[in-house]
Amino acid sequence: MGRSLLSVRIRIRKHKVFLMCLLGICAVSLLHYYKALHNISLLQELSSSSTHLKTLKMFRGIFWNFPATDHSQQDFYSLSHLKTQYDSNGIVPDPPGEKLHERTFVLQDDSTPFFIHTKSGAVCFHEGTDMAASSSHHRLLQHNSKDDTINASKKVVQCPCRQGWHGPHCGIPTIVYHSNLPSKSKVQPRKVPRRVINAINVNHEFDLLHARFHELADVVDVFLVCESNYTAYGDKRPLYFRHLLLNGAFDYIKHKILFVFLDHFPVGGREDGWIMDDYLRTYLTKNGMSRIEGLKADDVFVINDADEIPARDGILFLKLYDDWTEPVGIHMRKSLYGFYWRQFGTLNILSACTAAMLFKVYRGDGILLRRRSYYSIPGFREYENSTGRILVPWAIGSPVHYAGWHCSWCFKPKGIYYKLISAQNGDFPRWGDYSEKRNISYIEKLIRTGGWFDGSVPNYPPTDPKEHMYAPKYFLDNYNKFRYLLENLFAKEKR
Ligand SMILES: *[C@@H]1O[C@H](CO)[C@@H](O)[C@H](O)[C@H]1NC(C)=O
Ligand SMILES: *[C@@H]1O[C@H](CO)[C@@H](O)[C@H](O)[C@H]1NC(C)=O
Ligand SMILES: *[C@@H]1O[C@H](CO)[C@@H](O)[C@H](O)[C@H]1NC(C)=O
Ligand SMILES: *[C@@H]1O[C@H](CO)[C@@H](O)[C@H](O)[C@H]1NC(C)=O
Ligand SMILES: *[C@@H]1O[C@H](CO)[C@@H](O)[C@H](O)[C@H]1NC(C)=O
Repeated sequence: MGRSLLSVRIRIRKHKVFLMCLLGICAVSLLHYYKALHNISLLQELSSSSTHLKTLKMFRGIFWNFPATDHSQQDFYSLSHLKTQYDSNGIVPDPPGEKLHERTFVLQDDSTPFFIHTKSGAVCFHEGTDMAASSSHHRLLQHNSKDDTINASKKVVQCPCRQGWHGPHCGIPTIVYHSNLPSKSKVQPRKVPRRVINAINVNHEFDLLHARFHELADVVDVFLVCESNYTAYGDKRPLYFRHLLLNGAFDYIKHKILFVFLDHFPVGGREDGWIMDDYLRTYLTKNGMSRIEGLKADDVFVINDADEIPARDGILFLKLYDDWTEPVGIHMRKSLYGFYWRQFGTLNILSACTAAMLFKVYRGDGILLRRRSYYSIPGFREYENSTGRILVPWAIGSPVHYAGWHCSWCFKPKGIYYKLISAQNGDFPRWGDYSEKRNISYIEKLIRTGGWFDGSVPNYPPTDPKEHMYAPKYFLDNYNKFRYLLENLFAKEKR
């Protein structure tokens, strides 16, 4: 980016600062009125003051804090709709007797009876087996020959699978059956399921987070959710997720959430934004995993970005079966702004491995798992040797079988604005630096056309909300609430 542009920006900013100081003072007094009227407290950032910079930010905070003009568009950047007691710093206090970010989590074996033993002696995955067919199958066997029963139960009896499930136990979902897993004909169900740990960093992707929690609620044992009081750019930000968590927004899954708090900004992160980008994953994994008790070598670690939602059945397979190889990728359906702008192909991200591999190969650092260069990591060959297997990467799904969703920039226009201004310094060009790109009507135009900030408008295949794997089930089940992600609302207005 040019120096001249920078100096122009600085000059503009100087003028703005004066104006904003005035506006800021106005707004603060306004806010106090507002607070008194509605019994809400201010965010942490609003309570500090004095320097020009802070005043500037205060103004921004106030802007976010006021209710959106469109009330149907719930404004989650404003936490004022939450009935909360804040402390003098504008922070929701920790529950009595403990700090949320210092809690530990004890992993326990999952006693859910995923498999059932049929009368004919087969072990069938409950959900994947056609139970009605199973009992008639059983009768048929008895009629045949009593002598064969023992052998039959061991070798011949198979579970009659429902559509979408495969293998002798009907526990292999289509997305694994059609994947490149070399050992898929040999995999065996486990007696005790593995425990699954899902680690994510969160910024303001709360709708996607709800979809993840609903999608994975019964297969993930603990969600490590990391939030920082710094944006990826290094600005101060409120702990939105923490507020929501303490205010009951995630009560249905709270017992599985371990909150990770990144309370510092890495050295050099401002100059090179990728440092923060990596560091978020490193901190998430190191801090989160260190607070888990009872971890076993064969537990599964899955790390995602907040906008990457794995399909439940693939993760369930990792939980219930032995003999798959690692690291494990996930082929995800790619879309922009919502699920309606689907992009060609899939995004295959290395996302999962066992706890053993995480620590022996990746040194307990989740960012290393996401890189494709594990062959060259010291310790890989030794670890491979210790498993007695050749480790080849495989990915759940295939280029034509989606095993998850990667929904980029899937927000309402305001959310896109917020993502722009909090983006790290490194993903150049940094569109948030250009005021015309932050303009809400410009953002709405992008959503309408599927265009990108560089002016390009890619080709998209047609989509239909009824198509297979269109969006996570939670969104489809609550269609009206999440219509903005399922249909291009701006395209409709223009017609
Ligand atoms: C806000 O309301 C709560 C009860 O909902 C009350 O306990 C508290 O004192 C109120 N705070 C202010 C500043 O009025
Ligand atoms: C069961 O199978 C074994 C070989 O696997 C065979 O030797 C045996 O005769 C079979 N038993 C019956 C009852 O068919
Ligand atoms: C972030 O939180 C830490 C710990 O509470 C605090 O020391 C630090 O000043 C905070 N940073 C900002 C920018 O608020
Ligand atoms: C692999 O394991 C065998 C024994 O299981 C051992 O003799 C050999 O040195 C190991 N190789 C490496 C590279 O660790
Ligand atoms: C945003 O863009 C529209 C259309 O180009 C323009 O009318 C409007 O003034 C812009 N708003 C701001 C805040 O710059």
